[in-house]
Amino acid sequence: MERKKIDIKKSLELYKRILKVIPGGSQTMSKRPENFAFGAFPIFLEKGKGSHVWDVDGNEYIDYIMSLGPITLGYCYPVINEAVKAQLEKGSIFSLPHRLEIEAAEAIIDCVPCAEMVRFFKTGAEAAAAAVRVARAFTGKEKIASYGYHGWLDIWTAEHIGHPRARGVPSVLKDYIISFNYNDFESENSIESVLKKHKDEIACIVMSPISYWSPPKDGYLKWVRELADEHEVVLVFDEIVTGFRLSLGGAQEYFGVTPDLACFAKGISNGLPISALAGKKEIMQIMEDLTVSSTYGGDTLSLAAVTAAIKECKEKSVPEYLWRQGRKLMEGLNKKARDVGVNVEWVGFAPISMYRFSYENASLSSDMTVLFLQECAKRGVLFRKEGPVYISFSHTNEDIERTIDVCGEALEFLRDAYEKGEVHSRLETLKPPNSPYRRFS
Ligand SMILES: Cc1ncc(COP(=O)(O)O)c(C=O)c1O
Repeated sequence: MERKKIDIKKSLELYKRILKVIPGGSQTMSKRPENFAFGAFPIFLEKGKGSHVWDVDGNEYIDYIMSLGPITLGYCYPVINEAVKAQLEKGSIFSLPHRLEIEAAEAIIDCVPCAEMVRFFKTGAEAAAAAVRVARAFTGKEKIASYGYHGWLDIWTAEHIGHPRARGVPSVLKDYIISFNYNDFESENSIESVLKKHKDEIACIVMSPISYWSPPKDGYLKWVRELADEHEVVLVFDEIVTGFRLSLGGAQEYFGVTPDLACFAKGISNGLPISALAGKKEIMQIMEDLTVSSTYGGDTLSLAAVTAAIKECKEKSVPEYLWRQGRKLMEGLNKKARDVGVNVEWVGFAPISMYRFSYENASLSSDMTVLFLQECAKRGVLFRKEGPVYISFSHTNEDIERTIDVCGEALEFLRDAYEKGEVHSRLETLKPPNSPYRRFS
């Protein structure tokens, strides 16, 4: 495997330019270059095909970031491109409803256990906010019990009021969101304690059905379902990452626990901008009389992508493939780590695994992680820090084998650096330009 000094000159030039016109240099916090190995990792990508991407300097990589999750089939996936192009010829958005709204909703209802009705939006945060609006209207209660990230909107960021990054969110909203611990059956931060403490005030439990790092404890999700029923609270699964990835029917199908409502986005369209709120008719129907409306919700390009992506996922058993390839990758990487003798482990769910370096202190573990990103990028593989490692239907056996070899070499380099006390000095990263975001993170 060739370890080359990657030339990212154009990326760095563009980065200087973007900082002058886009605050923070990206529309998405997780894509900011300081989240990777700044100066030793590409900053701007130009194109993608299948599981591979090319940066603006012309370097090619196998990608495991996959646009932070939405690319489940692959970049420029022919079936999706054709569906979108065919619809583009007819127009993208219209003055009246379109047939594709029905077809896309029916495709979701067909796969997802809780889905009896569906509404479409543009972002995951918007679908999750709609879930809360509906739950509040349905129950007449106002507070949210929340686990996990559900987007940048006020109702979600209110959880972090007090942190500088939550400035701008009205402080009154803090009282309306109460976070709870996942997999916790008994502490004062468990969902049961939160429901008891805020008796008759909680409208909904909005939760990611998984923690990325470990599976739910035996009976945990079923217990949450029972508590929601007992306290007359709407149970909402945020399936924005798990939907159409863990299984066609999402985590709810995979674990056999059906929520009242569920939000989807990243898995449903292979990257076209669309999200969905799906759920039980009895609850969803209340939206008929609520102000929940979005001009672009009926954008037919994304809807065409939804129907095409779901059909492809079904016909090709895509989730099963993601599990299979993900398992191969996790097992291969864990074996390499053991063989080479580096303290890193890949854990979690094979289609979206996580990894962590554990060394004697946090700063060394962090340097090992950045050095790993640097050394993998040099050899043509892109990861995020600690994951998720997103597998797509386009990750071939050859990609997986090559990745395991690349990581094996990178880990040998890391072990050598560690043994010689050179982990920090072998980082080829640059100091990112100063900004408030960086000061606060
Ligand atoms: C689980 C989960 N929910 C909600 C969101 C927010 O989605 P969006 O960025 O499309 O608003 C994200 C985004 O990363 C997510 O991972």
